[in-house]
Amino acid sequence: VKVGGVPYRSVWREGDRVAIVDQTLLPFEFSVARLDTLGQAAEAIRSMRVRGAPLIGATAAYGLVLAMREDASDAGLSAAARELLATRPTAVNLRWAVERMRARLSPLRADAREAAAWAEADAIAEEDVDLNRAIARHGLPLLREVAARKQRVNVLTHCNAGWLAAVDGGTALAPIYLAHDQGLDIHVWVDETRPRNQGLLTAWELAGHGVPNTLVADNAGGHLMQRGEVDLVIVGADRVSARGDVCNKIGTYLKALAARDCGVPFYAAVPGPTIDWNADDALRDIPIEQRDGTEVREVSGRLDGRRVRVGIGDPAMAVSNPAFDVTPARLVTGLITDRGVVPATAEGLSALHGENVA
Ligand code: MRU
Repeated sequence: VKVGGVPYRSVWREGDRVAIVDQTLLPFEFSVARLDTLGQAAEAIRSMRVRGAPLIGATAAYGLVLAMREDASDAGLSAAARELLATRPTAVNLRWAVERMRARLSPLRADAREAAAWAEADAIAEEDVDLNRAIARHGLPLLREVAARKQRVNVLTHCNAGWLAAVDGGTALAPIYLAHDQGLDIHVWVDETRPRNQGLLTAWELAGHGVPNTLVADNAGGHLMQRGEVDLVIVGADRVSARGDVCNKIGTYLKALAARDCGVPFYAAVPGPTIDWNADDALRDIPIEQRDGTEVREVSGRLDGRRVRVGIGDPAMAVSNPAFDVTPARLVTGLITDRGVVPATAEGLSALHGENVA
């Protein structure tokens, strides 16, 4: 993706360092940060400088590279994997990437591990870009179908599942970018996505690509759907169970309920590494991250050019801040995977991704 005419990814290798876009500063400030140590990589994931399931996975892979520079022993590898796995619990891409790196590095002698780790992390990043291109291709016909019967295609999305959440290209936004590039008249309703407001990142990146979009408060989606102003919903996913339940940013479930009531198709875009073949019933099997209450008690923004955080209530009030929810497979019209669009069922997923079935 280009920012100000310069091509960027959300994470990349820069010589023997790792570079990221610091997403805590967006949408006001586009700033690149460098990671030199395992600790910095883990902090970047924990503090959401990098966020979004595929990007968390790729950054963790690079984090293991940095760890191999510090201590490439077996004990060093295990400790680094543990540190990275503890950063965020819900996005399964983190576990997937760490396990893949461990499987590649464990059999090697310590002095061969750093070079092999760079190659494997680079491969994970490149593959992510390819998966997203495939999701774009498979999702495009869904948008074309709508465009065949009406002038403007209106998509509603929740959270950020664009290039910032992946290495490049995005998941839920990938078909939207492709449709726009191919000349379809496409407009996106962007849910604000409280409390971390990832919708602002979505609006920022869509605007950067010239895709018409409108930011709405999280509660507006049902109203828009009732009035026929949404043709389909496309969201990303942080983890999908083997039977097709979709775990995604908090609030996704309510959109799916409204979509079902209004007869609006509801799709999730899902790259292979986001499927957890060990999870069946997502409500039972997927850990939901509980985040700090300050995210709900305070809002951050910009005032007179300065970043500010302001309280919006009594600092002592009780707050609960679950970061993700589960949309049961029965509410999902289909999963746009990198191998094709499938029904959100065990059979649908295993038909295309069968080699992974436990
Ligand atoms: O908490 P975050 O910002 O890391 O949340 C992840 C997300 O960006 C979304 O839930 C997204 O829809 C899935 S990741 C493509």
